[in-house]
Amino acid sequence: MNPQPDRMAWFRGGDACGEVPFRDRSYRFVLLGPPGVGKGTQAALLCQALGACPLSTGDLFRAAQHDAEPSSALRTALEAMRRGELVPDEVVVATVRERANCLACRRGFVLDGFPRTTGQAEALHALLDEQGMALDAVVSYELPLETVVARLSGRRTCPACKAIYHLTNQPPRSPGVCDRCHGRLVQREDDRPESIRVRMRAYQEDTQPLAEYYRRAGKLLAVEAAGRPEEVLERTLRALHEHLAPGQPALVPTGKFAKA
Ligand code: AP5
Repeated sequence: MNPQPDRMAWFRGGDACGEVPFRDRSYRFVLLGPPGVGKGTQAALLCQALGACPLSTGDLFRAAQHDAEPSSALRTALEAMRRGELVPDEVVVATVRERANCLACRRGFVLDGFPRTTGQAEALHALLDEQGMALDAVVSYELPLETVVARLSGRRTCPACKAIYHLTNQPPRSPGVCDRCHGRLVQREDDRPESIRVRMRAYQEDTQPLAEYYRRAGKLLAVEAAGRPEEVLERTLRALHEHLAPGQPALVPTGKFAKA
């Protein structure tokens, strides 16, 4: 099994997790796609396969719901999130900037849910540039709307370890209990139908234009998100390999996902 990065560094506020990469190079990816397409699921699988750190701004804001004394910026962010709206760029960028060490981590990263607007993409570019780094690729997941909504409405998550399940597609071994940490699974507050509608609109208006931004930068890879999570992972690794190292030995998963 691959050594897993310390996911808590991201939540603690950006101490680099300090672990060495187990591949000869690290990877820096962004995952794009509508709410519920499977970005969080793929971020976890890709990180397991490639040894990178999964960094989700949505997970950060959800964890901040438990802060005893949230700042007024954080309160504004949490209210926006509950309604399904985007958190203002300045709050998101400041939150990521505080964690610039995580972006510089030698394991590399898979960003899930950030950037979401062109302003955030420009801020990310500047943050990476300051550290002499650049993104390797941006994966844009595509799936028909009705499948996306079915994935969202059956989702259950573990607030403790952030594991993602689905009532029928990826059920836990015991109903309502996380396989990994035995935490109680919950339905996300923003998975209510009225919030889902607002989130889809925010995606279409603010995040879809990002695909064009990254296409122009030569970084965008469109990947079909239909099929089992392991099939989507294989498709993603193939697309990344074609983009990063055509003609080189394939970018294959290791550990749990290695083929016998
Ligand atoms: P965030 O947490 O980023 O949510 P999201 O983008 O809406 O995406 P989701 O987490 O809903 O879906 P996903 O694509 O990760 O799918 P998942 O893998 O869970 O953001 C939440 C909110 O925070 C935003 O609305 C906003 O308010 C705020 N926010 C966060 N970042 C921000 C930013 N940068 N700027 C501004 N605001 C920000 O999968 C979904 C379900 O499908 C699961 O049940 C899963 O088990 C199942 N599933 C996954 N893959 C498959 C498969 N291949 N086959 C069958 N089922 C599958």
